[in-house]
Amino acid sequence: MKIKKAVILAAGFGTRMLPASKVVPKELLPVLDTPAIQLVVEEIAASGISDIIMVISRGKGALLDHFAPAPELERFLAQRGKHELLEVVRKTSTMARIAAVEQREALGIGHAVLQVKEAVGNEPFAVLLPDDICDCPRPCLRQLMDVAEEREAPVVALMRVARAEVSKYGIVEGPQIAPRLYRMTGMVEKPPVEQAPSEMAIIGRYLLPPEIFAILERARPGHGGEIQLTDALLELARRGDLYGYEFVGARYDMGDRLGFLTAQIAYGLRHPQTADKLRSYLKSILS
Ligand code: UTP
Repeated sequence: MKIKKAVILAAGFGTRMLPASKVVPKELLPVLDTPAIQLVVEEIAASGISDIIMVISRGKGALLDHFAPAPELERFLAQRGKHELLEVVRKTSTMARIAAVEQREALGIGHAVLQVKEAVGNEPFAVLLPDDICDCPRPCLRQLMDVAEEREAPVVALMRVARAEVSKYGIVEGPQIAPRLYRMTGMVEKPPVEQAPSEMAIIGRYLLPPEIFAILERARPGHGGEIQLTDALLELARRGDLYGYEFVGARYDMGDRLGFLTAQIAYGLRHPQTADKLRSYLKSILS
C-alpha cells in the first residue's frame, strides 16, 4: 500500500478555541513560533509525501497564504542580510505542493474526507487532523506508512490513554498481533469508562483505501447532519481489514485549551532560546 497523497482537514469552526479562532483559523495558532498546520506539513514532507490536499472552508484562505511565496518579505530579509530568516520563510512555500478543496458546510470529518474523492482518485491516501500535533523521533505518518506497506492494509494511529479518559476518544477493540500493532475488529466512540473495550484511542492520523469514499457516500448522517469517519472505519474493521498502530512519540491536542498549553510548554522546554529560562520560571512558580 504505497501512499502518495496526504489530506489535511482544516474546514471546521474550531469552537473550542473561540474567540482566538473567530478570524484566525485555529490551525494557524502556533506552537511557539510555528503554526500547528506547518508542523503537520513538515511531518508529511519528512514522511516522503510531497502532494497535499487541504480541505478548507470560506474565510480560511490564510491557511493557503501561509504556504505561498512572500516576495516582498523575502526581498526585505535578503536586503538586510537576514539569511536564516529568509530560509525559514522560503521553506514554507517549498516544502510541498498544496492544493485546496472547499467544504461548503462543516458536516463532519467524514463529509470533509468525501470532498477529496476526485482529487485523490483511486489510490490509498493519508488523512491528518491538524489539531493533533505529533512529536515523534520518526514522523508519526512515516511510522504508519511502514506498517501499511508491510501489511498491505489501512492503518490508524493509536495512543494509550488513562482509563478515566477513555470517554473522550474513539476506543478500539481487537487483538494485539505484534508489538504496538492491533488488528481492529471494532471501535466505540466515547464509551463510558466501564464499557470501554480497551485503553487504546484513535488519534488524527489515518491511512485509508479509496473504498472509504463509497462507504462514506452510503453513510447516514448522524447527530447534527454530520457524517462521521468513525462509522466508515468501523465498516473497514468489520471486514477485518484495518490495523491500529501505537505510534512512538507524544501527541498534543491543539484544538483544546489544555493541549494547546502543554504543547507550548513541551516545545518551550526544548527550544535552545527558551528552555533554560522557562524551566527556571516553572520551578519558581511551582515551588
Ligand atoms: P474537530 O472536530 O476537532 O474540529 O476536527 P472543529 O470542529 O473545527 O473544532 P471544535 O470541536 O468546534 O472546537 C478536527 C479537524 O477536522 C477539521 C477541523 O478543521 C479540524 O482541523 N474539520 C472538522 C473539517 O475539516 N470539517 C468538519 O466538518 C469538521
